[in-house]
Amino acid sequence: MSITSPVTPGQVSFLLGIIPIIVAWIYSEFLEYKKTSISSKVGRHSDINLVELGKETVKEDDKTALIESGNLQSASPKARSSSVTSHLARFFLMDESFLTENRLLLRAISEFGLIVFYFYICDRTNVFGESKKTYNRDLFLFLYFLLIIVSAMTSFKIHHDKSPFSGKSILYLNRHQTEEWKGWMQVLFLMYHYFAAAEIYNAIRIFIAAYVWMTGFGNFSYYYVRKDFSLTRFAQMMWRLNFFVAFCCIVLNNNYMLYYICPMHTLFTLMVYGALGILNKYNEIGSVIALKIAACFMVVILVWEVPGVFDVVWSPFTFFLGYSDPNPSKPKYPLLHEWHFRSGLDRYIWIIGMIYAYYHPTVERWMEKLEETETRRRISIKIAVATVCSVMGYLWFEYIYKLDKVAYNKYHPYTSWIPITVYICLRNVTQQFRSYSLTLFAWLGKITLETYISQIHIWLRSGVPDGQPRWLLSLIPDYPMLNFMLTTSIYVAISHRIFELTNTLKSSFVPSKDNKRLMYNMIAAAVISIMLYSLSFVFLQIPKILH
Ligand SMILES: *[C@@H]1O[C@H](CO)[C@@H](O)[C@H](O)[C@H]1NC(C)=O
Ligand SMILES: *[C@@H]1O[C@H](CO)[C@@H](O)[C@H](O)[C@H]1NC(C)=O
Repeated sequence: MSITSPVTPGQVSFLLGIIPIIVAWIYSEFLEYKKTSISSKVGRHSDINLVELGKETVKEDDKTALIESGNLQSASPKARSSSVTSHLARFFLMDESFLTENRLLLRAISEFGLIVFYFYICDRTNVFGESKKTYNRDLFLFLYFLLIIVSAMTSFKIHHDKSPFSGKSILYLNRHQTEEWKGWMQVLFLMYHYFAAAEIYNAIRIFIAAYVWMTGFGNFSYYYVRKDFSLTRFAQMMWRLNFFVAFCCIVLNNNYMLYYICPMHTLFTLMVYGALGILNKYNEIGSVIALKIAACFMVVILVWEVPGVFDVVWSPFTFFLGYSDPNPSKPKYPLLHEWHFRSGLDRYIWIIGMIYAYYHPTVERWMEKLEETETRRRISIKIAVATVCSVMGYLWFEYIYKLDKVAYNKYHPYTSWIPITVYICLRNVTQQFRSYSLTLFAWLGKITLETYISQIHIWLRSGVPDGQPRWLLSLIPDYPMLNFMLTTSIYVAISHRIFELTNTLKSSFVPSKDNKRLMYNMIAAAVISIMLYSLSFVFLQIPKILH
């Protein structure tokens, strides 16, 4: 096995952090096994069983006790009595009760560590091979339609969620629909990468705009209704968006910008959070919201449209937003070029999402009224809406979508709302149609972030740090279709596990409504990662000194 790029301190820190955890986890499984085999011998009503029952309950609220995030290993206080240091001490002394209490958490961390290790093996060593991408429109469409047919046959579902306003009609743009929407777009987006389907480039731009639109829409609705601007909620949101990608950056030695979707969604989520969070007492007043939305437009215009401002604002962040493609055949751009390009394409659409979210209840009430009007009037209004949408969609398709890539990108920020609006209208033009959804796509829609990040390393292959995924991972050489099937199954299964693990670890390390513990955890994580990093740095110097 040979490694394609030099080892970094980050990678060594990860190893130093994860190995003790894995050892502790195996030991805790062993302890658990011993305990259950004893208790099953003694019988159901023995004391040992009672002790065990007691422990089970402790485990639930103590799950949060030990923090380990791959290379950031730390312990959180059990809030009431013990401190971070005592937890750490108990961990290093392999305190038996401590380990059994935290067995499930240790297991989750170990599993996460092993998955990231698999990423490394696939992408940075020559254990598995690589193959070239090939595009064949027939095959591409065949696979996509096959998936649609399969999910329509197996996961077609009619929902009966009632509107909160009248309890009569079915919500438009409900969660099933947004998830399904994300799902079918994600499949095309991923297949576009796998098969290098350059001809649908413009459509992919629209899909990404639609995700950003949903970021604005979903987050606005959430914060507007729930009014929860707490620190823990904020930390949970950041964890959800960036936990996994942070470890990919450390272990695979990549820049954050390689996964441009993550910084983009983080930025726009922060903008929505800021827009609603600042002076949130006044959010009930319509004109304040109007002012806030106008302010968002002003900020975007200032930063992205006025020449020079973008560089002034973002250059301090070059260290984590900078990116340059290591491929020598690609033109060299300034480090911030990628960030400018990606964030610029969708600079307005999140605001549009906020506006749609704000008017959502109004539109919904209006639609309910429409459902109650007499049949002829209702049908003619619907036909009118559908016709206007289709004509708009057609004009957009003819005059904007068909442009070549470079020309299209120029118009994209100002026109991406058109296909999105058309889709939303057509998707729920009739009562029946909006109650249908394909659950398989909705399932895929939930794990879009994970499938997006993982594809680069365990489905495709980039080979070097910061490399674009130009190859396919090949587990079964010379059988491209079988290989596609196998890598896809592993890839989707792992993405789904990462989604679950991110949530499990989030509930342990970023507990809701406990600011003090969150602060402890953050400090402990920082201290431990600095320690691990310094240690690794020293380790890596040793061979150099010896030479
Ligand atoms: C906010 O946006 C992010 C990024 O798209 C998303 O992951 C998250 O679920 C959104 N939050 C809510 C409450 O919709
Ligand atoms: C979308 O759903 C609502 C839900 O009640 C419905 O009343 C409305 O007609 C639908 N939207 C459009 C644009 O037809």
